[in-house]
Amino acid sequence: MKKPSPEQIHTLFSSQMGAYAIATPININAIIAFCVSKKPKRVLELGGGIGTLTYCVLNYSEAIVEVYEENGFCREKLRQNLNRWSERVVLKKSYAQTPNLTDYDLVMIDGPDSVTIEERDRLTYQVLGGLRNIRSFFIEGSRYSQRQLAQSKMADISLYFLERVRGREVEGLGLMKGGLFVHKAGHSPKPIRYFCHLLWLVYDSFDFMDPRRRNKIKVRLRNPFQTMLRFFRRFKNRV
Ligand SMILES: C[S@@+](CC[C@H](N)C(=O)[O-])C[C@H]1O[C@@H](n2cnc3c(N)ncnc32)[C@H](O)[C@@H]1O
Repeated sequence: MKKPSPEQIHTLFSSQMGAYAIATPININAIIAFCVSKKPKRVLELGGGIGTLTYCVLNYSEAIVEVYEENGFCREKLRQNLNRWSERVVLKKSYAQTPNLTDYDLVMIDGPDSVTIEERDRLTYQVLGGLRNIRSFFIEGSRYSQRQLAQSKMADISLYFLERVRGREVEGLGLMKGGLFVHKAGHSPKPIRYFCHLLWLVYDSFDFMDPRRRNKIKVRLRNPFQTMLRFFRRFKNRV
C-alpha cells in the first residue's frame, strides 16, 4: 500500500481537534527518513500527543512503539489515529510506569507536558533511568534541558554524535522548529566519553544557522544577567 507523504501526514493531523502542539513538517520528515534508513524495531516515545510522530514510525517501519501519554483526550485521539496498528502500540498512562524494555532503537522526546521544567525533567529522568542501551534519541523542538538529559544518558552508555534538524520557513506555515538526534557511536573509556560529551554540549548551545535558535541566542546575549541567572538556576535544579 502506498504510504502517505510527510505533507499528507502533517495535513491529516493538523486538521484534527487539539492539534495545536503536533510535530512540525520538518520533524515529521526527519523521523520518516530515520525509519527508512535505520529500520527501528523498538521505539519509546515520551509525549505521544495525538499521535503524529507515532503514526510516522508505524507507517514507515515495523517497530513496536511504547507511548507515554498522560492526557486522556490525547490518549483517545491516539487510539483513533493509530487504530490500524493497535497490536504494535503499547500505551503508558503515567510516567511513573517503567518502560517495558531496557534497550531501544529510538527514543523520541516530545513530552511530558508538565507545569514546570523541573517536573518535566524529573519525569524524563525517571523514564530514562532504567534504560541500558539506546541507539538514537530524537528530541522535538528546543527542549534544551531534555536535550542535555538525553546527551548525559548517551554519554553514560557510549560515545555519541549529534545530528541537527534545523528549523526553517515552511511555505504557508511560517518559521517552524526543528529538533535534534543524539546517535550512539563507538565505545571508549569513560574520561574520553565525558570529555566529548562536554564538547557536544557546547556545540549544541550555539547554532547560528537555525533562525529560531539564532533569535534565542541574540536575546540571551542581550540580557547577560538573566542568562547567568537561568544558567545557575538550571545548574541548581539539575536532577
Ligand atoms: C508537544 S505535545 C506532543 C505532540 C506529539 N508529538 C504529536 O506530534 O502529536 C506534548 C504533550 O502535550 C500534551 N498535549 C498535546 N496536545 C494536547 C491537547 N490537544 N490537549 C491537551 N494536552 C495536549 C500531551 O500531554 C502531549 O504529550
